[in-house]
Amino acid sequence: MKTDRRTFLQSLAVLMTGVYCPRLILAKPNHPDVDYILIAKQAPINLMPNGKATALTYNGNIPAPVIQAKQGQRIRIKLINHLESLSTSIHWHGLRIPNAMDGVPFISHPPIKPGQSFIYDFIPPDAGTFWYHPHINSLPQMARGMVGLIIVEEKLPLTFAADIPLSLKKWRLKADGEFKKQQFIPRKAARHGTQGNWQTVNGNAQPTINIPVGGAIRLRFANLDNSVYYNIHVAHEQVKMLALDGMPLLPSREQSEYQLGAGMRLDLGFIAPSKPGIEIPVLNKSAMGDEVLLTLKTSQQRQPFPKRLPDMLANPVQHPDLASAETKLFTFDWDAAVSPVSEKEAEMPIFWSINQRSLTEMTMGNLGEPLAKLTLGKSYIFVLKNTSQYHHPIHLHGYSFTVLESDKRKIIPYIADTVMLGKNEQIKVAFVADNPGKWMFHCHVIDHMETGLMGYIEVS
Ligand code: C2O
Ligand code: CU
Ligand code: CU
Repeated sequence: MKTDRRTFLQSLAVLMTGVYCPRLILAKPNHPDVDYILIAKQAPINLMPNGKATALTYNGNIPAPVIQAKQGQRIRIKLINHLESLSTSIHWHGLRIPNAMDGVPFISHPPIKPGQSFIYDFIPPDAGTFWYHPHINSLPQMARGMVGLIIVEEKLPLTFAADIPLSLKKWRLKADGEFKKQQFIPRKAARHGTQGNWQTVNGNAQPTINIPVGGAIRLRFANLDNSVYYNIHVAHEQVKMLALDGMPLLPSREQSEYQLGAGMRLDLGFIAPSKPGIEIPVLNKSAMGDEVLLTLKTSQQRQPFPKRLPDMLANPVQHPDLASAETKLFTFDWDAAVSPVSEKEAEMPIFWSINQRSLTEMTMGNLGEPLAKLTLGKSYIFVLKNTSQYHHPIHLHGYSFTVLESDKRKIIPYIADTVMLGKNEQIKVAFVADNPGKWMFHCHVIDHMETGLMGYIEVS
């Protein structure tokens, strides 16, 4: 199982450079109406080397299929629910697509019940690293495996010697490799969120991944965890940040460490050392000590390959007009007067609020009024104010915003769909309200989202 996934990953790296990969066909159906089929189902997975975890998967595997889309080209993905008892859906995190395809039950479409299916059909406008996950029963499904990457290739393809997706996730496992019974602990949800104890990259603990000597490498980091954040550091010189949340940084930047909150993505680029057998550790830096996430190792390559990083091209995101923009304030609060703590999901406690209101997944069928009503085509500045002692990766559906400034740290403006809001920090983001619909606006620490740190905005 373990070697299987490693081979899968390596062939995937080859695929990105244009060579056909037979393993990915598993996700491709035989009939012509759709490009991919994703079957939500329970399956036994070796997350720890010698112990099966009863996982909830797409197509019976962890990692889930990496969906390959093309910028500006229609893609159809059929979701079939073969779970025993849970409804599901797929949200395409970061893709600026129509509201009906956003995968939020009760807004985009009804929940997909066991035995039912739904075809997502859209045209991704932006190239980059994006991901997918359910937007109902998110906590149990995401904690047990239902998360995957969707990579949108540039309209004019960029060539790298290796282009490697790296899904980061920390699972909550018992010593025998099975999931812990409790994937949600209310006392933790009221703080940083319930965290895991078994770190993997593409489903493997501390894998070694081969990269071709001397070639231009793209690493696509994606934090698919429910709560943890990573401080990514690649121990090599001249590592460039190519993109954040799929959006190219122009010009690319150098930064030795980057904080990746839940839901966020980071594309890094560098030139591999020219000798074979050189190891480059990728670390998660922390005050408690550095943790090795994976090791890159140079290997001889027969094919010719690019030796310089290609130039990234901006995605077609409209620039907000700051002079005419209307400002809206959102305050993210910790609610001290918490409701009685319960372990049953049907009675999720409320710990968090946005502008004094709390939406939880259980109440999604009954949304109430939006947090803000925006006029289609107008520019907006959102002031995001965190009055709590905990950080929140704040995410808006259907949009990518420009992160303008913070009252706590220096920010060179960049475009993203999720922004890390530190404790007591205030951040300004801006965007043009050019995508109509009801769009979820929430913290991507899933326990926070499920206990009140969620709302929605309406654009019409
Ligand atoms: Cu990944 Cu509602 O989001
Ligand atoms: Cu999203
Ligand atoms: Cu949060």
